[in-house]
Amino acid sequence: MTERNASLPEFTAKTANLARMYDYFLGGKDNFAVDREAAEAIMELIPEAPALARANRAFLRRAVGFLTAEGIDQFIDLGSGLPTGGNVHEVAGETRPAARVAYVDNDPVVAAHARALLEGRGSTVFVHADLRQPETILSSPELTRVIDLDRPVAVLLVSILHFLQNADDPFGVVRALRERVAPGSYLVLTHGSGGREPDAEESVREIYRGSSVAGAVDRSPAEIMAFFDDFELVEPGLVECSRWRPEPRDRADGPGLPGYLLAGMARKPGVMAG
Ligand SMILES: C[S@@+](CC[C@H](N)C(=O)[O-])C[C@H]1O[C@@H](n2cnc3c(N)ncnc32)[C@H](O)[C@@H]1O
Repeated sequence: MTERNASLPEFTAKTANLARMYDYFLGGKDNFAVDREAAEAIMELIPEAPALARANRAFLRRAVGFLTAEGIDQFIDLGSGLPTGGNVHEVAGETRPAARVAYVDNDPVVAAHARALLEGRGSTVFVHADLRQPETILSSPELTRVIDLDRPVAVLLVSILHFLQNADDPFGVVRALRERVAPGSYLVLTHGSGGREPDAEESVREIYRGSSVAGAVDRSPAEIMAFFDDFELVEPGLVECSRWRPEPRDRADGPGLPGYLLAGMARKPGVMAG
């Protein structure tokens, strides 16, 4: 067990917690009354929230499936959340049993569950760290034990970047990640992109502000595209997440959801030296 980093939040069951609210949206059991109340308040404003959470998870599964078919066998899952169905190592392991995964989250509840469930199999590790410190994450001994940054890696930023405020310098954070990974690596993200009445948006932000994160920040498609910079966008580009390479088994959630959550993936250009 690594020593507690004072910059990471401590466990509390008194205020709503983002990871546990998301677990509730997904129908999980790892949540408290305070989390359920905040999640229900969000559902009053966005009745599709649970469907969006499921669509987000389904995108993550399709994205990992696509990447393993492209030859990617190492993944860094940033803001990994509470372990749930279809964790990255399970999906990647279907076609690449030797796939290596580093899960990263700053939440103490996620850390406890993830360490118990995901670690100890040699090829998956959990790093308890804050996304706002990308260099610390990428140089952490836990991560470098399984991830070789000189080889292509997939960096997953699925439903996390909208929880970074502009003051957190999300574009600087993602630039640091883009610069450090090898050519042939991929950046994968989903990001909230508004589409609601301004009043409802402010109310959603307010609910999140009372939780473990400072609030949710919707960004425009152009702003979200800027996270990819010169990486080459994979077809079909940045789209509503249920429309990214949909598979027949995902159609149960309907033909499409409102464009609140956009998804995309891009590849770092160039070829590996040697
Ligand atoms: C909505 S969940 C997404 C979980 C998973 N990526 C998925 O898409 O299914 C967001 C996760 O990001 C984590 N998170 C939020 N801010 C973070 C930060 N600054 N550093 C690390 N993790 C963070 C939360 O603890 C939570 O587990």
